[in-house]
Amino acid sequence: MDTKRYDLFIQRYPEFLQTLELDDLRKRDYARLEQTGQVYLDYTGGGLYAESQVKTHQKMLLEGVFGNPHSTNPSSLHATELVESARSAVLSFFNADPQEYVVIFTSNASGALKLVGESYPFTEYSRYLLTFDNHNSVNGIREYALSKGANVTYIPVMPPYMRVDEEKLPDYLNGADSRGNNLFAYPAQSNFSAVQHPLEWIEMAHQKGWDVLLDVAAFSPTNTLDLSLYKPDFVPISFYKMFGYPTGVGALIARRKVLSKLHRPWFAGGTITVASVQAEKHYLADAPMAFEDGTLDYLNIPAVEIGLRHLQSIGMEKIHQRVLCLTGWLLQNLLEIKHPNGTPLVRFYGPLDTDRRGGALAMNFVDDSGRVVDHRWIEEHANKVDVSLRTGCFCNPGAGELALGISSSELTSCFNQPVHEQRLTYNEFRLCIDGKASGAVRVSVGLVSNFEDVEAFIRFAQSLVR
Ligand SMILES: Cc1ncc(COP(=O)(O)O)c(C=O)c1O
Repeated sequence: MDTKRYDLFIQRYPEFLQTLELDDLRKRDYARLEQTGQVYLDYTGGGLYAESQVKTHQKMLLEGVFGNPHSTNPSSLHATELVESARSAVLSFFNADPQEYVVIFTSNASGALKLVGESYPFTEYSRYLLTFDNHNSVNGIREYALSKGANVTYIPVMPPYMRVDEEKLPDYLNGADSRGNNLFAYPAQSNFSAVQHPLEWIEMAHQKGWDVLLDVAAFSPTNTLDLSLYKPDFVPISFYKMFGYPTGVGALIARRKVLSKLHRPWFAGGTITVASVQAEKHYLADAPMAFEDGTLDYLNIPAVEIGLRHLQSIGMEKIHQRVLCLTGWLLQNLLEIKHPNGTPLVRFYGPLDTDRRGGALAMNFVDDSGRVVDHRWIEEHANKVDVSLRTGCFCNPGAGELALGISSSELTSCFNQPVHEQRLTYNEFRLCIDGKASGAVRVSVGLVSNFEDVEAFIRFAQSLVR
């Protein structure tokens, strides 16, 4: 390690010293990072698991006998107990009152979002209001809304810092239609720019007649969400983003009051109390069962509780603090890199400081004439030095289009070409928007990121100076 640079870093971010136990944890519990020499900078894509999580889970599997839950036999009861214990652990992690909130296990955040989309009582009098800055799995709910005749409205974010114009927000929120149900959806943290949109919007929206879907998939790995202070109605989560393992399990944390107005479009094994073939009648069970189709992933769900305990043993505040120190250092150093003719190497899409943001940076590299370097070329070169980053638009096309300056008319003229009526490949799309950057580069830090990781990326960026 370059100790001179580390000293500079500590001078600038003395609070990093309060997080040093994460360096020890990394040595102990994530030794494979050093052993493989991988520089992992894709925590918004997926978190990394500790060895101890896997070992604890493996021990549980090897020592127990677990049957399909919801029966009274001992192996089934054993599985049920662990699933219910994980459910309580999720509520308690987010400080949610079990009288007020319920945890529905899904396969990921997208599964949670689909549950809301397909069951929300949209009608022609409903509104679905959402920020441009949203993951596609939140955008996708608009198809359910549109199919029921609801009005869909997008709130723009403003480049280059990618925040919503808060003066205009009340105008949008005033648009709820009292004749129908109105749903407002936004991410607590953007998976594109890492902007943290205010949690205060939740109460504001409630007061104006909206149900609120707060997407915390990118927020929850490094921030505290306290559901006794902020009370969104629907909260989708993917657990692998928080602690790496297991994949395949997510949750919809839902407010019971609002959940009761959802209408499931079908029933399945596990979701009913009684269903009859001859009478063509079924009775849905109470939540959460009514929303959990078929057999739960009962062997992996207990690993969620193990992961939550792992985060709790470290403390979310420590993780948050560390991530912000590393993000600040990255920002400051990347902003300073210039080509010999003085052109800055990096163009950021998002805040240029650590105020109200998370630990991801979306950017493009530009050459000395100011032209954007193809993000796929950057990824190829990063791959060669074992740096794992992510490029493209990260399933967040709204933020991408605004950040990259791709206009609605350009998009419409691409999509309206007869050859593209049914099919448009990514390459065809790139050609269609003619020379404009079609994506960005994202690096994101997390739980066990260290100073060396961000220094490796700064060195990589410096190697691109021409
Ligand atoms: C903000 C946000 N929402 C939703 C999702 C969807 O998560 P999943 O792919 O695990 O369903 C992601 C995934 O990257 C995300 O970043």
